[in-house]
Amino acid sequence: MKYVIGVDLGTSAVKMLLVNQNGAVIQEVSKGYPLIQEKSGYSEQNPEDWVVQTVAGLKELIKGFDGNPDDIEGISFSGQMHGLVLLDQELNVLRNAILWNDTRTTVECQEIYHVVGEERLLHITKNPALEGFTLPKILWVKKHEPEIFEKAERFVLPKDYVRYRLTGMLHMEYSDAAGTLLLNVSEKQWSKEICELFGLKQSLCPPLVESHEKVGTIQEEVAGETGLSASTAVFAGGADNACGAIGAGILEDGKTLCSIGTSGVVLSYEPNRDKDYGGKVHYFNHAVADAYYTMGVTLAAGYSLTWFKDVFAADEPFEALLEDVGSVDIGSGGLLFTPYLVGERTPYADANIRASFIGMDSSHERKHFVRAVLEGITLSLNESIAIFRKNGKNIDTVISIGGGAKSETWLQIQADIFNAQIVRLNSEQGPGMGAAMLAAYGCGWFESLKACADQFLQVDKTFTPIPENVVKYQELYRIYKDIYSTTKDTNHQLAAFRK
Ligand code: XUL
Repeated sequence: MKYVIGVDLGTSAVKMLLVNQNGAVIQEVSKGYPLIQEKSGYSEQNPEDWVVQTVAGLKELIKGFDGNPDDIEGISFSGQMHGLVLLDQELNVLRNAILWNDTRTTVECQEIYHVVGEERLLHITKNPALEGFTLPKILWVKKHEPEIFEKAERFVLPKDYVRYRLTGMLHMEYSDAAGTLLLNVSEKQWSKEICELFGLKQSLCPPLVESHEKVGTIQEEVAGETGLSASTAVFAGGADNACGAIGAGILEDGKTLCSIGTSGVVLSYEPNRDKDYGGKVHYFNHAVADAYYTMGVTLAAGYSLTWFKDVFAADEPFEALLEDVGSVDIGSGGLLFTPYLVGERTPYADANIRASFIGMDSSHERKHFVRAVLEGITLSLNESIAIFRKNGKNIDTVISIGGGAKSETWLQIQADIFNAQIVRLNSEQGPGMGAAMLAAYGCGWFESLKACADQFLQVDKTFTPIPENVVKYQELYRIYKDIYSTTKDTNHQLAAFRK
């Protein structure tokens, strides 16, 4: 039997899966690391933490594996998107990485629109200027930390840096490069025009490769430390959302995914490079060569639930927190939650909006708040689905992965709010599985990723919308949608009181 490893470098932890040729997960390890949040809106991580924890995790994975490490033929990566890692001439890290959920760059986003022009930006990058993307972060460092920027010779994204430390080779692949605002998404080239407009040398951008491309092998030193074989092939990998899509079989037109991790996304396969959503949702290169996907993002999805637990139920496991939400009626007894804890992307692109509980009543217990959080996250994701549908997409089935697929009550809430069949997969492993599949395909085990998906992925259970619940949620959604505009001014004024 042969094996591959999928590494998913997430925001809260790095997760590693050892997968065999049948697609069975033989071993899995997860290692956490902290977020550094100096101010409201700031979100950073130390890239060294990613490397240390990935190496420690791989070591643990190999230790628990009773086969021969030479039979692990390939390894690939999925990574949190957009995070800026700046490197000097010797490829040393110059400062903490600024992450996808950091929203300090509103001014830089306005500057990008001003300098490039909104339409031209959309034409080249197929995306709007959002605080989370990488170019605004580069411009922020250039302006606020010029002494650091002067030393910068390359930028990469989180998983590219970890892969570099394992192989000694530095690359970026298209699915992650698409989220930088520096890539011409349909031509698959760095945009000379955008680089020049902001005085960025083109050499700052690393060489581009396809996600399934072999970029190196494991360095001797890392092999010695982890127990991996130095002959294990390393494949480029993809953005976590692209890998989540592969791991859920979103490999042909008509397939849609709902992934609830720290962020939440609704993502739909696009066979062409030229569909136009006018920048209302993201449009990125898939980790499948020459395919694309469109995506809406709720910044604090799973994060809203983790935040609630940390603040109000720190000592209890998630299972206890979610245990009685099924006993609460639709609408959580008149309590609504908007998940704007760190600002929002889709559909509002507003870094200063903040979350609300609306309608608190003396009859409410903790379980009402928990259900309201689940409903609020799902109603927010429904705003992305509504944009897709308005643009002619038929969404009747959604594959659900991540934290949102772990609770049957939540899966039924998704079916009722999205008014679509919700499918849960057997081996619900998300982006890590997608990364393992890229390695399996890269190793030549399958003639296509689709053939790999047919072998690796099976449907476990389908959740069907219940018509009377759908009607109730449609009414709740109408009320929910008003909260943004009614709380916007208040939240913008409150910004002055934040940390
Ligand atoms: C997507 C995005 C997030 C991160 C989470 O644009 O910013 O989903 O990729 O890791």
